[in-house]
This record gives sequence, C-alpha cells and structure tokens, in this order.
Amino acid sequence: MENLDLSSMKLVDRPETFDFEGISMTHYFTDNWEKVKNFQARPDDILIATYPKAGTTWVSYILDLLYFGNDALECETSLPIYMRVPFLESCFQGSPTGTEMADNLPTSPRLIKTHLPVQLVPKSFWEQNSRVVYVARNAKDNAVSYFHFDRMNMVQPEPGDWNKFLQKFLKGKNVFGPWYDHVSGWWEKKQTYSNLLYMFYEDMVEDTGREVERLCSSLGLSTSVEEREKITKGVQFDTMKQNQITNHSTIPFMDFKISPFMRKEVNGCDMRPFL
Ligand code: PPS
Repeated sequence: MENLDLSSMKLVDRPETFDFEGISMTHYFTDNWEKVKNFQARPDDILIATYPKAGTTWVSYILDLLYFGNDALECETSLPIYMRVPFLESCFQGSPTGTEMADNLPTSPRLIKTHLPVQLVPKSFWEQNSRVVYVARNAKDNAVSYFHFDRMNMVQPEPGDWNKFLQKFLKGKNVFGPWYDHVSGWWEKKQTYSNLLYMFYEDMVEDTGREVERLCSSLGLSTSVEEREKITKGVQFDTMKQNQITNHSTIPFMDFKISPFMRKEVNGCDMRPFL
C-alpha cells in the first residue's frame, strides 16, 4: 500500500449540505456515488458502520490489531488508520476515493468504514453476506463530539455556535442525516441480518476488554487472552490519542488548534432505553 500524500489535497471552502435521497449530505460523499452504489463487496469484507463520531476509529483500530497486529509489515503498521480502513463514500480532491482505496486494499479481510444510513449501503454487502460491525453512541455525547468535529474539520459544513448546531442536529440536518433514524435503522437491520454485530460506545468505555472479546467471538476469531489483553491496552483513549496512526493529526484539513480529533473519553448516558 502506498502512503497517501494528503498535503497535495486541495483545500476548498466549507461545503453546503443538500438533500440526497432524503438524507442531508455534502458533495464529498455523493460525488463518487455511482461507484459507491455499484461497489463490489466480498464475503469476507467487514463493514464498520456508524453515525459520525460514534467510535468508528476506535473499533477500526481494534479490528485492525485483531486481524493484522501480529504479522503486519513495519511499513504497513506505520500507515494511518484512515488508509488501512478506507472511508467508502469519501471523495476528496487530490486523494484516492474511498472505493479506489477499498478496491486496492491488499488485506483479507478488508476493513471498510461507512457512515451511510442503512438504506444507502451498496447492495453487494447484503448479497455477499459480508460481516458488519455497527457502533452506536448516545445522542448527547454524539452531538457534542460532532459539533467540535465540524468546528475543526474544514471539509465539514460550518457549524455556527452550539445552539445553531444543536437545532440542526435535532432537525436531522447534519451530514448523514438524523441520528435517531441512523441508529434505529441499523438496529432494525440487525433483526433480519445475522452477520451484523451491534455495539455501543458506552459498553466499550465501560469494559473495553469485554467488548474486544465480544468482537472476537462474533467474528469467530480465536485470539489468545494475552493478545486480547495487549490489544485492550493499546486501544485505551490516552494511548490512541498519542498515537499518530489513530489520532488523525496528519490530516491537513483538520485544525487541531481549534479542537483535537480525540477530545476526551466521555460516557454521558446509556442510550439503550431509546431503541
Ligand atoms: S469519525 O470522524 O466519525 O470517524 O469519528 P469517530 O472515530 O466515529 O468518533 C470519534 C470519537 O470517538 C472517540 N474515541 C474514543 N473514545 C474512547 N476511547 C477510545 N480509545 C477512543 N477512540 C476514539 C473520540 O475521542 C471522539 O469522541 P470525542 O467525544 O469527540 O472525544
């Protein structure tokens, strides 16, 4: 895998949102839509699906370590997580599209990230019976995290102040649409699609080791206790925040002076009663 030179990415004005198939989107996630829609999934793919800011990077890194931690080459372990786990629908100027990156992934399984609501996921994932790991986070912390992300990420719409952002969030007008429809749409999918593991960010905060074990048993991985403990240690908040592979500090359009990508480990409330 070649290293990605993000410094060549053209920085543009913040995008506007528009309605796309009933969902609020920016052009960065629709420009490559024909390729996204027709993306060829494989039976051993693992799709990591979340509403933005719900723990995608966390579960991506856990899966990356579980599958490739032991025998990855040095050059591979130095690649940032956003290259090892392509963002399927992304299409940023000056960078390969998410579909190109996924098509060129040399790994098996391929770990692929998406924020799409369930109804927009390319149908080949269902046809191939690919495995899916969904992570949901409570609405309050999810919204706060999203607000700070939009402040620091120049390829996201301008969030305005917290009140303005919150009104937009409550109306479901943020990029990738309403939070509730997202988490409940995927929850419903789980009732009929057995290859979907539905996880909660709050459970991962409560007992990361237990959730790593849950991932292993759901994916049929026979990882040793020692290895699981090592991974659990390596994915703690402070460790990932210091780790250049996971902290997104190499992305030029994120302004860490405004806010870091990983702000603080918060576990505000348990969202399960709402589902
Ligand atoms: S993105 O941009 O949508 O892919 O962001 P995503 O990775 O889904 O979510 C980022 C939030 O997840 C937090 N995070 C963690 N919390 C606890 N422990 C670990 N190890 C961890 N890794 C990432 C990250 O800090 C973001 O939340 P906030 O509340 O903004 O800090």
